[in-house]
Amino acid sequence: MCGIIGFVGSQQAAPILLNGLKRLEYRGYDSAGIAVIDNGELIIRRSVGKLSQLDALLAEQPVGGTIGIGHTRWATHGRPSEQNAHPHRSGDVVIVHNGIIENYLALKHRLEAQGYRFDSETDTEVIAHLVAAALTRGRTLAQAVREAAQDLQGSYAIAALSVAEPATIVTTRSGCPLVMAHNEQGSFLASDVTPLLAHSRDVVYLEDGEIGILTPERLAVVDEAGQAVDRPLVRIDWDAEAAEKGGYPDFMVKEIHEQPRVIADTLRGRYRYDSGEADLPDLAMTAEELIHARRIWIVACGTSWHAGLVGKYLFEEMIRKPVQVDIGSEFRYREPMIQKDDLFVAISQSGETADTLEAAREAKKHGARVLAIVNVVGSTLAREADGVIYTRCGPEISVASTKAFTGQVIALYLLALHIGRVRGILSAEEGRWWLDQYLMIPSRVEHILKREADLRSIAERFYTKRNFLYLGRGINYPIALEGALKLKEISYIHAEGYAAGEMKHGPIALIDEEMPVVVLAPRDRLYEKTVNNLMEVRARNAPVIALVTEGDQELAHLAEAVFPIPHVHPLLSPVLFAVALQLLAYHIAVLRGLDVDRPRNLAKCVTVE
Ligand code: M6R
Repeated sequence: MCGIIGFVGSQQAAPILLNGLKRLEYRGYDSAGIAVIDNGELIIRRSVGKLSQLDALLAEQPVGGTIGIGHTRWATHGRPSEQNAHPHRSGDVVIVHNGIIENYLALKHRLEAQGYRFDSETDTEVIAHLVAAALTRGRTLAQAVREAAQDLQGSYAIAALSVAEPATIVTTRSGCPLVMAHNEQGSFLASDVTPLLAHSRDVVYLEDGEIGILTPERLAVVDEAGQAVDRPLVRIDWDAEAAEKGGYPDFMVKEIHEQPRVIADTLRGRYRYDSGEADLPDLAMTAEELIHARRIWIVACGTSWHAGLVGKYLFEEMIRKPVQVDIGSEFRYREPMIQKDDLFVAISQSGETADTLEAAREAKKHGARVLAIVNVVGSTLAREADGVIYTRCGPEISVASTKAFTGQVIALYLLALHIGRVRGILSAEEGRWWLDQYLMIPSRVEHILKREADLRSIAERFYTKRNFLYLGRGINYPIALEGALKLKEISYIHAEGYAAGEMKHGPIALIDEEMPVVVLAPRDRLYEKTVNNLMEVRARNAPVIALVTEGDQELAHLAEAVFPIPHVHPLLSPVLFAVALQLLAYHIAVLRGLDVDRPRNLAKCVTVE
């Protein structure tokens, strides 16, 4: 995720900005930059890569001035490059921005028609031009930012500087956090509290739609109508490390809790509701190509492979398209019967996993069209693929993948809708219906997160066990695999995921009173069959942890523990089950006293085969 920092006061701004950006490093970034005003001149320094590059640039080309804004960028629109790095300038105005502007293309066309020139591929540059345009109409910087914000759709936190008001920073937000602080040296702003703690423990949180006005003497907040708002100071007691984790004890649990936002962001601006269509501009594939693709291949590793398996069930049921799913390391060494014009979907959080990359190269050699579902913009996979759907998860720091998985599944939902509409399998009305279902997912996930304590209680009852079995059917079979993977990688408990119907063909021999069996039992067309499997488990005295659809009373007396999942269409249930199983694995690992973010022997990104 991008990071914002700002300072105006009596000290040199550049070192304060740089130190602030360093405190935001944990969020991940691909480029960074600052802008200061020194003696009425606007100076910008930007560089790609690590902050040390920006540090070196500033050592070589130092900047003075006691007002400035800075940014670390995690690319969403446009590859990581100096040109795309923030701050972005329009005349005497400079802007930094976090978030995604959904209507930036429409705004860009309008601004181009007014004579504004664009130097970057970002969505942010429209904001700089909108603010500059408002200033030419005689507005103050605060009014200009407010007017610009009225044109924006999407999520944003913005900070702006203008040479016309060389002692003022103006900031606003919608859907992205923005915090301010003040001390005897001046006023500070940042996208989270971490960089502010070095300056003050009393902070002001800006609310959506409000404008923050920072001067050396004070902080002021006004509402959308320009009326002063009296926002109380909030005392922060966290230390810097806790602040990086947003107050959560680990990155993993923080990332689990980010999922409603990740899902909403991955869907944001990627559909046309009226026509019931998905809008995936980076797909780089024509309707013809999608119609003629004989078969869809999905290749990935680990958790991303589980997302791919969900995709198989989804595509075959929702849009009646045959799908072959492979593990990267298997695909590349067999003789896959992939053909020219097949659609090859490579899924990867990092975009750097060696086995997935090589499989995608192999598919290209066979003439397939390669589509990447990837989180890291500008990663090797994203660059080499013909088209991309970015999951907008922000950096995933915990080694165990959580929010990246849900982002990938949501990207597959969008792709299924797109192909279904293009091929005429889904009508506009059906498309709208699916969109309604997709848009409900974030609130359903919230609902699960609110009941985290119930999963913690289940974990308390079973965390000392040495083996677990996870059973699921249909589209939730991959979630049984994913639940088992999460548990084994962070708790070091042996866990296996199985298709529930396959249990009697072998694993049933393992079942006894010492082996908890986690059964995913949604009220879908396979419910009765799953209940039969559960009975088989019960008959062998194994404790059952049942994840059921809310309102299902039937299994309450058959299971040791029951966790209800909100009702959604069965094809969308994997996201909800996955979130519950992430929390179960997390709490078991915590109870075992383990470092959940850095499990032994594992690397976040496997760049070797
Ligand atoms: O970056 P990728 O999505 O390509 O990574 C694939 C796997 O290495 C990854 O999902 C791994 O299985 C995680 N440890 C799962 O939590």
